Amino acid sequence: MGLVLRENWQHRWQCTIKIPGIDGLSSPICSWSEKNTSHMLEPVMNGRPPLIRLERVTRSYSEGSQQHNVLHDVSATFAQGEIVVLMGKSGSGKSTLLNLVSGIDLPSSGEIWIDGQSLTRLSEHERTLFRRRQIGFVFQFFNLVSTLTVLENLLLPLELNGYGGTQARQKALDMLARVGLEQRQHSYPDRLSGGEQQRIAIARALVHDPVLILADEPTGNLDSETSQQVLDLLDSLTRKAGKTMLMVTHSAEMVGLADRVFRLREGRLIEEALASISQV
Ligand SMILES: Nc1ncnc2c1ncn2[C@@H]1O[C@H](COP(=O)(O)OP(=O)(O)O)[C@@H](O)[C@H]1O
Ligand SMILES: [Mg+2]
Repeated sequence: MGLVLRENWQHRWQCTIKIPGIDGLSSPICSWSEKNTSHMLEPVMNGRPPLIRLERVTRSYSEGSQQHNVLHDVSATFAQGEIVVLMGKSGSGKSTLLNLVSGIDLPSSGEIWIDGQSLTRLSEHERTLFRRRQIGFVFQFFNLVSTLTVLENLLLPLELNGYGGTQARQKALDMLARVGLEQRQHSYPDRLSGGEQQRIAIARALVHDPVLILADEPTGNLDSETSQQVLDLLDSLTRKAGKTMLMVTHSAEMVGLADRVFRLREGRLIEEALASISQV
């Protein structure tokens, strides 16, 4: 493991508008400023730069006078292109962790860095834009928009990212072909099987080319044969495209495909040695 120095620069134009008649100037005075907001030494893992860095992350909820630490002092780094499986009992904080990494939720303390950007220092609006651009989400219950056709479901993230017209349509159709469901482009989600809906959801998560895929129990609602097909598809599409994926799953097959496996236990994130995982 080596180290790389990453610097985050903040650039801005600052304009002062001088009012004519008051100080004799009629045009704004603008200046360009640059400031280096942070330096950090980051590890390079197996020759791959880091994409996600959790630094002493704690997430707690208050219940009456009691404080419940769901995540406690969690630190971890995941490299670009890594396929990471996250396991843990129900209620151990797996979805909470994914919500923090996507910027849906914020930690009670600690910092989360994605691609050199600190999520905790972004405004809510900036986090929404970040998520829209950089993240593809796959959920247990597919979460397709039932009133839109398959093709329209895929066009949504593209439109939100500024694509339109034939370019967006072509991208959506290419992605549908990659999940083998091009012929269902005009169907509504309720006409598809669970496995097909999840393949569409995977296509929707990848179509706008995000850097990071987050999958929360994507096979939790599927039979075992369909689950295997869905996991193979998710694994191969993310790997081929060099994407990073964080997946919550209890699937032994996915544990076998993952680059790294972590378990949440009593608020702590513990990496499991791949060779030692006998029971999922
Ligand atoms: N908004 C919330 N308010 C209070 N407690 C919450 C909230 N969200 C999650 N929790 C609690 O955090 C714990 C972890 O939840 P979650 O991350 O959904 O677990 P998992 O996905 O591992 O099953 C649970 O005890 C849950 O009740
Ligand atoms: Mg969950």
